[in-house]
Amino acid sequence: MRTLRDIPALRETLGEYRRRGQRIGLVPTMGNLHAGHLALVNTARQHADVVVATIFVNPLQFGAGEDLDAYPRTLADDQAKLEASGCDLLFTPSVATLYPRGLGDQTRVCVPAVSEGLCGSSRPGHFDGVSTVVSILFNLVQPDVACFGEKDYQQLAVIRKLVEDLHFPIEIVGVPIVRAEDGLALSSRNGYLDTTARATAPELQRTLAALREALEAGEPVETTLEVGLARLREAGFETDYLELRAADLGPIASDTREAVLLTAARLGTTRLIDNLTLTLPR
Ligand code: PAF
Repeated sequence: MRTLRDIPALRETLGEYRRRGQRIGLVPTMGNLHAGHLALVNTARQHADVVVATIFVNPLQFGAGEDLDAYPRTLADDQAKLEASGCDLLFTPSVATLYPRGLGDQTRVCVPAVSEGLCGSSRPGHFDGVSTVVSILFNLVQPDVACFGEKDYQQLAVIRKLVEDLHFPIEIVGVPIVRAEDGLALSSRNGYLDTTARATAPELQRTLAALREALEAGEPVETTLEVGLARLREAGFETDYLELRAADLGPIASDTREAVLLTAARLGTTRLIDNLTLTLPR
């Protein structure tokens, strides 16, 4: 696996792939890789001849007071994991390479509607930062296919809309959530949890599973969500949101069948997100 930090070297290597007629798969990440990221690489492998991963802790998608400085940077470990999972090329640019004018003067991409509400409310500007860096990576790599995790359900919806609206000729593949044995969705931020918080964290997924069961049995949405919020509060979570949306993130209507429960909740200073899809009864 080659590791490149500069744009000219990246373009040269991508040119070699294209001249050989190879289909390129992209896996954008912020590093500190776990089995969830490696599932993205494996999926990209199934859809492409060469897999390009990126590691870039994107300052544009962190708000003031968020964990940009603390975000774990584990490059050597990540390189070993990518190499072992059959990744062909790692692009890990500096902030100055991707944003040479500085952050303040950077052209930004905003995907309206779907970026609003949910994480868009609790992390203002977050999805503009994601949309901007993903657009830059799409322009630089020009992949045929790109893989993103379904754990970041709203992010995936934002990226699908971005690709449609900006006419990127890229197939977007969503990859199912990878969970620890106790149900906790894998996340780089799980590393912030101390032993007590780590033991509590799977309650997030257990609560979603209990709510799904109730909703699929026809329990009313509002009271079910109230029960969920109380259960999370009792377990020690401070909930940013717990919502039921249509699968496309639109509001629930009387004829909505395919739906998704989404939550973001804090355990101490650690913010966790999770979601579960479900089918509402007729
Ligand atoms: O999901 C992530 O890790 C990031 O939001 C992404 C897509 C790599 C953009 O920085």
